[in-house]
Amino acid sequence: MGNSLNAVREFNDSGWGTEGATQGIENLVEDGLVLHFPKLRFALQPGEERFLTEACSDGKAKNISLRGEAGVLRGASGSTAEQDALRELVARYRDHASSLVGRLFPHYRGRLTRANTSFRPFQVEGRASSWRQDDARLHVDAFPSNPTRGTRLLRVFHNLNPHGTPRVWRLGEPFEAHAQHFLPHIKPPLPGSAWLLNALHVTKAPRTAYDHYMLHLHDGAKADLDYQRNCPQQRVAFQPGATWVVFSDQALHAVMSGQFMLEQTFNLAPEHQLAPDKSPVQVLQRLLGRPLLA
Ligand code: SIN
Ligand code: FE
Repeated sequence: MGNSLNAVREFNDSGWGTEGATQGIENLVEDGLVLHFPKLRFALQPGEERFLTEACSDGKAKNISLRGEAGVLRGASGSTAEQDALRELVARYRDHASSLVGRLFPHYRGRLTRANTSFRPFQVEGRASSWRQDDARLHVDAFPSNPTRGTRLLRVFHNLNPHGTPRVWRLGEPFEAHAQHFLPHIKPPLPGSAWLLNALHVTKAPRTAYDHYMLHLHDGAKADLDYQRNCPQQRVAFQPGATWVVFSDQALHAVMSGQFMLEQTFNLAPEHQLAPDKSPVQVLQRLLGRPLLA
């Protein structure tokens, strides 16, 4: 990892509210940088430390998640009262993350939609079941059954670890360089394949050519051990009490170790970016010389 790369920008903010110090940094997050707030702590209420155990998971799902606005908590174990209390914690994080992005990204106001909130109680090390699911390999987020059709994935992460254990990530080269590396090896989608995958319910919506290329970037990077070892990259340790924000469909990232994290996903249509030409869909369209959402 001798390559010089600095994909992280640090900020001193210690509050989630709209009055905090840092505002209007859309340009940085749209460059694919990770915005790191080492002092932006999410405070637990008295008694909530009891949820910092793998035992609050039902053991089936990888994460405990809150879906939609009035959503139920999924993946949790315990009595109804216990699950309600955990839901309260996760919903509070969702609200904090929402006010944070409202202040950091005023240009997106009214345009961001809240997707899932997740609590990830499992230790990262030793969890991967296959290379494709191994998030310890650098990748951009793209999911086989969930075509985004160009919609951005903006994520707010928080390390909740009570034992001083950092969440350690690796970050890779900028999206355009990454795409240039792998695109020559990706075949175009087969005519009719998107329709077929949707008809077979493999996908929840028809996969666009954009989704096809994103999935192949994700898989291509994870399958290439030489790239994993030798591409420009850096290691970053997010300490307990730190919050970080990133477009995870753009920034190459991998998680190496850690336990107990909260995460909020927001969606944004690329046309609502400050600079839509920095979006993965526009970068790929430029590199390939053709529209990818048609
Ligand atoms: C990922 O999005 O690849 C996983 C991030 C994490 O669990 O820290
Ligand atoms: Fe990821």
